[in-house]
Amino acid sequence: MASATTSPTIPLQHDLLTGMEWGAAQVRDVLQLAADVKARPDRYRGALAGRFLALIFEKPSLRTRVTFEVGIASLGGSATFLDHTASHLGEREAVADVARSLERWTNGIVARLFKQSVLEELAQNARIPVINALTDRFHPCQAISDFFTLEEHFGALRGLKIAYVGDGNNVCHSLLSVGARLGAHIRIAVPAGYEPDSGVVAEARRAARETRGKIEIVNSPEEAIAGVQAIYTDVWTSMGQESEALSRTAAFKGFQVNNELFAHAAPEAVFMHCLPAHRGMEVSDAVMDSPRSIVFDQAENRLHVQKAILLTLLS
Ligand code: CP
Ligand code: NVA
Repeated sequence: MASATTSPTIPLQHDLLTGMEWGAAQVRDVLQLAADVKARPDRYRGALAGRFLALIFEKPSLRTRVTFEVGIASLGGSATFLDHTASHLGEREAVADVARSLERWTNGIVARLFKQSVLEELAQNARIPVINALTDRFHPCQAISDFFTLEEHFGALRGLKIAYVGDGNNVCHSLLSVGARLGAHIRIAVPAGYEPDSGVVAEARRAARETRGKIEIVNSPEEAIAGVQAIYTDVWTSMGQESEALSRTAAFKGFQVNNELFAHAAPEAVFMHCLPAHRGMEVSDAVMDSPRSIVFDQAENRLHVQKAILLTLLS
């Protein structure tokens, strides 16, 4: 099998729903496999030959859709895109019945859904792997890729200081849970009322105790950024929250990542964003386009890391 030299240390859960179902060793195994997939893509051609995946998307996507479709094809598998942007999963028929049907024809499901609870219902009823391609709560493929990018850039993750400035949202949750497993020091700066979920923070702190990671939540972007090696931000209004856009824009005033704020970071600090970015809102053009911005490395690495995730769960 193509991944023989990098087989997981401990058997993995067969789904990737939150990122919290994987231990530190398992996340490390995926990062290691992703590095090999990136360095030697030819070695993995055909690894998913004869495998079919269903991609169910209730929300728009550029990066996640393209990287999964290209990744699956480059591993020799096939993907069927189920466009659910006009109708939510469960409207036409019960979510469990969709799961029980898809498992008869396909070998795995990649799903971008509004509700984490619907993703979990899908997984509970499907005997094939289900991969979270973003929900209201988590974006694990993004965070695992982002730590891959950070490791590529800095060489090590343990003790690396990362500030996340903005909304305590799905991307923030996944950075916390994956970062904690890798021993990173993560400081989150959010306006009052936009904190990450307390249960996710508590779980990340538990995981960080084992890796000597650190999780801090503050309300001042300047305080969060002091001395960090990476500054990460995401949109203030996520998909599905459009009706709150005005109040969110007001609440996040002062949280824009711009050159003035960046001056508080370490000299080697990089800028990160999962994209799509709302230029002029959470990030200035100058920071997005600066040599410190590694946002397109992040976008590229979604491909390599998701191939590693697919190989781990499906081959
Ligand atoms: N970062 C990310 O998931 O991008 P898309 O919404 O374009 O898939
Ligand atoms: N927080 C954003 C991430 C997009 C990739 C959203 O959910 O819309």
